[in-house]
Amino acid sequence: MSAPLIIVGGGIAGLATALAAAPAPVLLLNRARSGAGAASGMAQGGIAAPIGGGDTPQAHARDTCEAGSHHNDREMVDLLTGDAVAAIDWLQRHDVVFDRNGDGTLQLGREGGHDRPRIVHAGGDATGAKVMEALVAATRRAPHIRRRADVDVDGLLLRGGRTCGVHALDADGNAEQIHGRAVVLATGGIGGLFARTSNPADADGNGLALALAAGAALRDIEFVQFHPTALALPGLHSLPLVTEALRGAGARLLDAEGKPLMAGVHPLADLAPRDVVARQVWQACRDGGTWLDARGIGTAFPARFPTVFGACMQHGIDPRLQPIPVTPAAHFHMGGIAVDADGRSSLPGLHAVGEVACNGVHGANRLASNSLLEGVVFGRRLGARLGDLPDTGHAHGECTLVRREPSLDAPRLAGLRELMMRAMGPVRSGGELRAALQERSALAADGWQATLAQAMVEAALHRTRSLGAHFRID
Ligand code: SIN
Repeated sequence: MSAPLIIVGGGIAGLATALAAAPAPVLLLNRARSGAGAASGMAQGGIAAPIGGGDTPQAHARDTCEAGSHHNDREMVDLLTGDAVAAIDWLQRHDVVFDRNGDGTLQLGREGGHDRPRIVHAGGDATGAKVMEALVAATRRAPHIRRRADVDVDGLLLRGGRTCGVHALDADGNAEQIHGRAVVLATGGIGGLFARTSNPADADGNGLALALAAGAALRDIEFVQFHPTALALPGLHSLPLVTEALRGAGARLLDAEGKPLMAGVHPLADLAPRDVVARQVWQACRDGGTWLDARGIGTAFPARFPTVFGACMQHGIDPRLQPIPVTPAAHFHMGGIAVDADGRSSLPGLHAVGEVACNGVHGANRLASNSLLEGVVFGRRLGARLGDLPDTGHAHGECTLVRREPSLDAPRLAGLRELMMRAMGPVRSGGELRAALQERSALAADGWQATLAQAMVEAALHRTRSLGAHFRID
């Protein structure tokens, strides 16, 4: 029997990899059901691609590097922006229906850091949900893909130093070993490790922690992007996003006195790169609060931004009539498992793609709407390469098992999230970072979340100069 390619994670990067690997057999393992639990489905803004008249991959690359503080790997950026139009075509071939103008051309939105409208979207601000719906359906139809939900992969199997499978627990805690010709981690980001996040709680770094335990090289893990505008709902961990596309459509940030928050801060004002806006909002929240005034969008609001509208109304806020209270929230991890353009990690047989991976494409701060794009572009590349791997069948010999530590209990995890927000937020200092390392009750507790958080704090402490999303006040 031919050994499958094992893909862990059911977000856009995992699904693109699985589809592109055809006809090689794929086993897609997901912690949640049917793509639920993946941050991809919550993405609102859309997908950046140089589609408009006069736009070019070079212009898109320039904005990507500018947002990333030129810490980006230029070769990866060129792959990303050079393949963006093909990625949009591929999604359309998989039945994603993007919003169009009356003349049939694709509607293009604008977001922070882009020098022009460049973002295609679907269902207004429901792009991630629409893309995931189409790709989940495509993977269900694909005869080469077998899907399993409710599976938590907590270990890797190694034979002669090469990854040859995974150790997994089902919903009842039953353990099993699954062998494959290669393993791909597509487990998403780490927002769930922070007290406030725009990610689902499941995006908690579980795949990154596994790679760390197995000794794979990590890269740039100090760079965490905060979205400036999550809906401020005190006491909640996973907050609804208030998409940046609203600012592209004219909404403005206000401070507690009702004054424009971004005036004079950056030439692009409310559409400045996300790290710049997040720091202003972070400070303004400490000084009394921040609001997004989107009343100018008026009666078109529910049709253009149905997701934000629904979330606001659910919490008694009518964005047509009143400014929306917002707060920064952990949104995207630029760092991750160090990989090359084809998703190879430093551990033979282990691959990574999407947010859990770091090939350097986003530099020190990701450009808006480049994340779904990354998942499709690098997922397709990786899937095509792994699909061509010769099947050597089940190799013989003993496997060793490397497992992640057990999970922290709920109170310790809650403490760790607060600590990460304080020490690893949009504004950092050596004092806070050192204090975090010393707080033994949380960081030094046994538990994979604490071990991963400790590695991130150490990386942040090590980078003494500010760069992109890593901002040191000292
Ligand atoms: C947003 O819609 O504001 C977020 C899009 C992104 O993360 O790129």
